[in-house]
Amino acid sequence: MLFKISDLLAGKGEDEICRVHGWVRSVRKSKKFSFVVISDGTSQNNFQMIVDQDSDDYENISTMLTGTSIEAEGLVVKSGGKNQSFEMQAKKVSIIGACTEDYPLQKKATSLEFLREHAHLRVRTNTFGAVFRIRHALSMATHKFFDERGFYNLHSPIVTGVDAEGAGEMFNVSTLDKKHLKLNNDGSINHESDYFGKETSLCVTGQLEAECFALGMGSVYTFGPTFRSENSNTPRHLAEFWMIEPEVAFADLEDIANLATDYVKYLIEYAIEKCPQELEFLHRQYAEEDYLDKLIHVRDSAFNKITYTEAIDILNNSNEKFEFPTNWGDELQTEHERFLAEKHFQTPVIVTDYPKGFKAFYMKQNDDGETVRAMDVLMPGIGELIGGSQREESLEKLEARMEEMKMDKNPLWWYLDLRKFGTVPHAGFGLGFERAVMYVTGMKNIRDVIPFPRTPKNCDF
Ligand code: 4AD
Ligand code: MG
Repeated sequence: MLFKISDLLAGKGEDEICRVHGWVRSVRKSKKFSFVVISDGTSQNNFQMIVDQDSDDYENISTMLTGTSIEAEGLVVKSGGKNQSFEMQAKKVSIIGACTEDYPLQKKATSLEFLREHAHLRVRTNTFGAVFRIRHALSMATHKFFDERGFYNLHSPIVTGVDAEGAGEMFNVSTLDKKHLKLNNDGSINHESDYFGKETSLCVTGQLEAECFALGMGSVYTFGPTFRSENSNTPRHLAEFWMIEPEVAFADLEDIANLATDYVKYLIEYAIEKCPQELEFLHRQYAEEDYLDKLIHVRDSAFNKITYTEAIDILNNSNEKFEFPTNWGDELQTEHERFLAEKHFQTPVIVTDYPKGFKAFYMKQNDDGETVRAMDVLMPGIGELIGGSQREESLEKLEARMEEMKMDKNPLWWYLDLRKFGTVPHAGFGLGFERAVMYVTGMKNIRDVIPFPRTPKNCDF
């Protein structure tokens, strides 16, 4: 019977003749027998087989370079080795695909930077196998979490005609012939003959469509690719990332702050339950010794909640030297966010009620005329993991804000309709999935938690 390595190591094939597939990690030859270690991506531990010189194909062993794909068959038995629970006494070992000598993943230690340049192969390493099994677990946890709470999964569109966040960081989608562009009188490009007959882009969020669905189905969430052309070459920004955006009708900021807290704790709990070996491996290699304890602490403790105004006071009363200013009205930068979460509170912090000046048009306006019902969830080591808000449900106030921001209301006629036809208080947030994977794994660069990162000047693979 054919087994995955994860099943063999769990004892599923004990004392049976089993078959297994994998890629050779190492071969150690001696006179009478050889040790071949393989991996297949299903377990943090590799699988060892002992090949006796009397076995069929023994001469194959010397041509099995690291990276070769093989099939092996033999008796699976309990092993005496310290890291190995079961091993195979292989009787047949056949090469499926040979591997040339210039295979980049040789036994010597390879840096994360080197592996980024070999992103098509890096998933075969212990590190990236661990990262992507955890990523899978967090994805499953997300669907489970929302499904258990009665949320419907929404596939919001990827191509859009509106800049919902108003930041102008969008990638155009066009089929126009770039050599023969037609211009309008004001010099702008004429999109009449473009595929959609107007200017379109890749989405920066699925929120506005999620709001439509929340105001019909109650609670929904999106989980999809998101694109931002911001020129941020940092360890926390991608041009293409995945975002989870729940949206809840008949809910306020308090409700979704609680939802965000429960969701983050659920992600931590799920990863600890499903991927203990992966977490142990990654934390040992890339984070701190006690990183798991820190995760458990976050899972078990309350998140602090402060207003933006209180955050500014804390920053100004601290003795820290910050690069960026911290006057009321300034945006919180990563250094400020990390100071609050890592040093001041040493727990996740939810900051609410930001000045409207640097927040999107759709946020609910507070009575002070200055701030909006926004929230950001800041995590130790990461900074902003979640951004969300209660939405402005009054048509009058929403239109007034759009006029104040000199926005064109026409493309958003359907969004404004929601405020005319049975408007309700509603709220939601967006969690950057890669930032969550970074947080749980302890990996320090966002390029190492997405299969094929897209960043400024980099779109290989
Ligand atoms: O704070 P943001 O911009 O919020 C929104 O897009 C809202 N529409 C969400 C909502 O209320 N439904 O983005 C949400 C999260 C951020 O907190 C961050 O974790 C992540 O998305 N994010 C990025 N992750 C990686 N690379 C980037 N360039 C990111 N930009 C935002
Ligand atoms: Mg944000």
